[in-house]
Amino acid sequence: MVKICCIGAGYVGGPTMAVIAVKCPEIEVAVVDISVPRIAAWNSDQLPIYEPGLDDVVKQCRGKNLFFSTDVEKHVMEADIVFVSVNTPTKTQGLGAGKAADLTYWESAARMIADVSKSDKIVVEKSTVPVKTAEAIEKILTHNSKGINFQILSNPEFLAEGTAIKDLFNPDRVLIGGRETPEGTKAVQALRDVYAHWVPADQIICSNLWSAELSKLAANAFLAQRISSVNAISALCEATGANVSEVSYSVGKDSRIGPKFLNASVGFGGSCFQKDILNLVYICECNGLPEVANYWKQVIKINDYQKSRFVNRVVSSMFNTVSGKKIAILGFAFKKDTGDTRETPAIDVCKGLLGDKAQLSIYDPQVNEDQIQRDLSMKKFDWDHPLHLQPMSPTSVKQVSCVWDAYEAAKDAHGVCILTEWDEFKYLDYQRIYDNMKKPAFVFDGRNIVDADKLRQIGFIVYSIGKPLDAWLKDMPAVV
Ligand code: UDX
Ligand code: UDX
Ligand code: ADP
Repeated sequence: MVKICCIGAGYVGGPTMAVIAVKCPEIEVAVVDISVPRIAAWNSDQLPIYEPGLDDVVKQCRGKNLFFSTDVEKHVMEADIVFVSVNTPTKTQGLGAGKAADLTYWESAARMIADVSKSDKIVVEKSTVPVKTAEAIEKILTHNSKGINFQILSNPEFLAEGTAIKDLFNPDRVLIGGRETPEGTKAVQALRDVYAHWVPADQIICSNLWSAELSKLAANAFLAQRISSVNAISALCEATGANVSEVSYSVGKDSRIGPKFLNASVGFGGSCFQKDILNLVYICECNGLPEVANYWKQVIKINDYQKSRFVNRVVSSMFNTVSGKKIAILGFAFKKDTGDTRETPAIDVCKGLLGDKAQLSIYDPQVNEDQIQRDLSMKKFDWDHPLHLQPMSPTSVKQVSCVWDAYEAAKDAHGVCILTEWDEFKYLDYQRIYDNMKKPAFVFDGRNIVDADKLRQIGFIVYSIGKPLDAWLKDMPAVV
């Protein structure tokens, strides 16, 4: 029986291993983590992450061939294949601060693997890491190996949150990078055999280690670039009277471009895009490629611009001040169908409004007050540490209240900002919301999910990203 151990029971490790376990009943899968509450949650009815379909998959195999444990060393020692899916924060100090990946958790995991191993192992990079990390990990493993043979593979995960289970069941591709030696090829084949339980052979791509590592960074950079491209066009649409949805639709009809991932928004968020691009930028700079680095930097700059453009639009349309005004924030997660708030654009938008002394009332169906308060008081880049090492919010932000109802959030508010595209926000009773708001009542739709014309008939002044502006907004141009 093949035994798999995954170090790191997070958004990637948890769902990925659950799907491997459900598809490979003869493989024993242990998911281990240093966070006691996280493992306790994986062993309870209240899983630590919200992901459609995940509960079912975990229920099918937990206790049979899927185990969650804090006994990291025991399970690593017993495993044939060890996946590493630990945090890779952006460095906040020292060389490469604000750009380079901090590999502290990776290095400590690698040293532990070397310490406890008594048999040969395949070590799989699952979390996104800078190109050539495998080489560094290989050095740690072999220099401490006591004669044990370690084969290192790169097997980046391409799942998107909110659709993780669907993506894992039906991946566009599985990518496995390994050393081009007989041992390396054998290790690639062993991992291939695991995925071959449910992924068609022609969708399992094999490459060298560096191509696999770089492909992951490149894929995320390309995806983020599409969003920054459409967001850049959205600013021009507002200035010219074009409609970004019509432009996206026409552009996406070109089969060379394709229709997906062209929705203008208040900005992209999530744990990967910004971090991976910063990483790419840093690697380019280290390799003497400043032109390439600057090209990718621009994707992040446009994303930051989009968020501040949104804040400026809110403030300018409310007579250039939101001081003391209640503003409802609908949605705080970085996208719908997840409770994840890592790098969510809501953080920057809320901080921007708080900077102008607004009173915020925040509602997200999956994010609780503790998380929101922590996010709003945390420094940039501090979020990507194991949960138990993250700073607790020292003082909660007093201008912020969190509620469990969109109507409550909007009561007596001057404006409503929609920051996450939760389906329920499409179907709210906007007449009821309007009746209970201060007038003039504003809706700022950062996800283009409401029917703006209907809302205008009710009496709202509506701003939608990249859409022709109301007369009111034209008269109050945002300074950008
Ligand atoms: C992403 C990649 O899609 C995935 O392949 C990789 O493994 C991890 O990073 P994720 O961050 O979970 O996944 O979500 P994704 O659906 O890519 O959305 C990222 C951000 O872009 C979200 O904030 C989303 O709202 C935003 N987005 C996405 C847009 O603003 N417009 C779009 O058209 C699509
Ligand atoms: C382009 C658009 O494709 C077309 O829709 C528009 O109407 C006019 O501009 P064209 O310039 O004729 O058409 O050729 P295209 O096939 O787009 O190639 C443009 C350039 O890009 C060429 O120099 C081509 O060699 C280069 N190219 C194209 C690449 O370097 N790599 C590619 O993957 C594709
Ligand atoms: P991702 O989105 O990449 O899955 P997460 O932050 O959700 O990232 O998960 C990473 C997990 O790795 C966290 O639960 C953290 O506690 C765990 N972790 C970090 N370092 C170690 C380590 N040395 N040993 C075991 N678990 C670790």
